Amino acid sequence: MSAMPERQLHLNAFLMNVGHHEASWRLPESNPHAEVDIEHFRELARIAERGLLDSLFLADRLILGNDPGQCPTGRLDPTLVLAAVAGVTSHIGLIATASTGYEQPYNLARRFASLDHISAGRAAWNIVTTAGDSAARNFGLDQMPSHRDRYLRAMEFVEVVTKLWDSWAADAVIADKERGIHADSDRIRKINHVGPYFKVRGPLNVPRCPQGYPVLVQAGSSEDGREFAARFAEVVFTVQQALPDARAFYRDVKQRALEFGRSPDEVLVLPGIAPVIGDTEVEAQELAAELDRLIVPEYAKRQLAIRLKISPDDLDLDGPLPSNLRTEDEIEGGKGRYTVMVEMARREQLTVREMISRIGGGRGHRTVAGTPVQIADTIEHWFTEGAADGFNVMPAVLPSGLSAFVDKVVPILQERKLFRSEYTGSTLRDHYGLRQPANYFDAVMS
Ligand SMILES: Cc1cc2nc3c(=O)[nH]c(=O)nc-3n(C[C@H](O)[C@H](O)[C@H](O)COP(=O)(O)O)c2cc1C
Repeated sequence: MSAMPERQLHLNAFLMNVGHHEASWRLPESNPHAEVDIEHFRELARIAERGLLDSLFLADRLILGNDPGQCPTGRLDPTLVLAAVAGVTSHIGLIATASTGYEQPYNLARRFASLDHISAGRAAWNIVTTAGDSAARNFGLDQMPSHRDRYLRAMEFVEVVTKLWDSWAADAVIADKERGIHADSDRIRKINHVGPYFKVRGPLNVPRCPQGYPVLVQAGSSEDGREFAARFAEVVFTVQQALPDARAFYRDVKQRALEFGRSPDEVLVLPGIAPVIGDTEVEAQELAAELDRLIVPEYAKRQLAIRLKISPDDLDLDGPLPSNLRTEDEIEGGKGRYTVMVEMARREQLTVREMISRIGGGRGHRTVAGTPVQIADTIEHWFTEGAADGFNVMPAVLPSGLSAFVDKVVPILQERKLFRSEYTGSTLRDHYGLRQPANYFDAVMS
């Protein structure tokens, strides 16, 4: 494992309250009020930046979780949290989730342009279409729009948002006090967008942001999702359990990007990895087993039933998954993860109880318990085998799991020359090696 490839890994810290393991909040070390404690998030950001990670990421849902009595499921607005985090960090990228399903492009374009200014060029938008009837019911609908319709709206949404970010030329603001000219108003333009979903005049009320556009992140796995990612996304999050599937996904997304006239290097693929790190293998296994013991099986069974779109009564804890589950084509929610989870259970002949334990750690993402060297080995393996440009790191317990990754795994990756030993740029585009987008209006007006 001593090769010195030129390619460098990209590492993103996926932050989830006190950890990705559903039982993490029950550990003695965990702060049960972390979900609303900004100091908790500031601390996590400082740790991630100490490890020179490219970015950190906050997911978002537009509902309270299914079972608030059972575990902490509240969440602060990610862009607000990241604006606060920006004030105590200087380099790390800040990825916030926001929905194309239930927001308006103007507000969203403004919020992310604001975050990019506030953080001096470190913002990114995780574009989600928001699956689920529960969210729909918070926004005047009885059920979610179809999968296809959600993606059609998302495409137009992103088109409008990027036009709004382009509505100011980079050099529009002149700030000439002498002549009393603040800006060249010819370089600030209306967008006059009219489409099936949106009618937006513009211009945006925020000048062009430091990165041109915040970085665009997405996580589609279905046919529509991959097309969307290949067309718009610069970073793609994905759930992958097995190396061959991960390689196939990686190749597919890069190939589709080529078909949209983009370079494969402009779309970085980051599978999730949920590490449980111990100084010895035994220690790592013990921590994993302790977390497993803290899972409440009846609660986990209800969660699994929701994910599989069936009744909990159809699940026998010590039996296999029912054989008559729906296929990916038959569901309207998130398709990709559904398939990954069902295939994993069938491939490995897991009982429902075993599956609950596997999903408890990473909701379908790959969980790995091991020593820092073992975690570094698996990261290097997937990276060099063409399955990943980097990883979405999802510690089981926070902050301790993130500290362990930063202080024990990152130095091994640095020694192997797979990961940076200092930040060489200051924006998130610098860290990910992504170019600044051209201004659409400059292109059409020149
Ligand atoms: C790492 C990761 C993070 C995600 N974060 C969110 C999120 O914060 N909010 C959300 O509504 N969906 C989230 N999703 C779901 C995706 O946006 C998408 O709906 C899902 O991957 C299914 O896509 P598909 O229907 O194209 O398969 C996430 C997915 C992945 C893999």
